[in-house]
Amino acid sequence: MKILVAVASRHGATRDIADEIGRCLGAELGARAVVEVLFAEDVVSVEDYDVVLLGSAVYMGHWLGGAKTLIEQDEVLRHKDVWLFSSGPVGEPPKPVEEPVDVAGLVTRSGAHGHRVFSGRIDRSRLRFAERAMVSALRVKDGDYRDWTAIRDWAAEIAAQLETTKGSGHVGRG
Ligand SMILES: Cc1cc2nc3c(=O)[nH]c(=O)nc-3n(C[C@H](O)[C@H](O)[C@H](O)COP(=O)(O)O)c2cc1C
Repeated sequence: MKILVAVASRHGATRDIADEIGRCLGAELGARAVVEVLFAEDVVSVEDYDVVLLGSAVYMGHWLGGAKTLIEQDEVLRHKDVWLFSSGPVGEPPKPVEEPVDVAGLVTRSGAHGHRVFSGRIDRSRLRFAERAMVSALRVKDGDYRDWTAIRDWAAEIAAQLETTKGSGHVGRG
């Protein structure tokens, strides 16, 4: 089974999440899977993969272009087992609580089995000037709010679903 974890990340936090998901899937599935983690913008086609996990950081309520483009341009994705993830909410408790605005459409378009939102990271030292001004205006504090247990559990859930459907075709929708 060939698995692609593709990710759009501006400042690295979501890339780390993708790397961890890739590591967990590899550990859970062992020799039964080959797992690759790539930036979404570096993916030429998903044709060669059986399973695609696609994620993006959320900025101003939206996914980043590289991840959106992958779904919008690659019709092949509809024939794969797909899961989507986002990294966004920050703070204690994490905000915002709403789903990124693009996601319902992207789930429909890709035929994804599901979408999971993970908390993100704010580190002003990595931000561009305008971004720093924006997070300050919103009174968002610096912090790494990523929940590695939730991330690993999600990867393990997907690995378990792939295991149970092994040899019987795609994971059921719904
Ligand atoms: C300018 C700016 C705008 C943001 N807007 C949102 C947003 O609308 N919704 C959200 O959930 N997170 C938002 N975030 C938080 C980021 O999505 C979060 O920090 C994420 O982990 C960054 O991932 P990256 O390092 O991979 O780019 C914003 C962060 C910045 C700096």
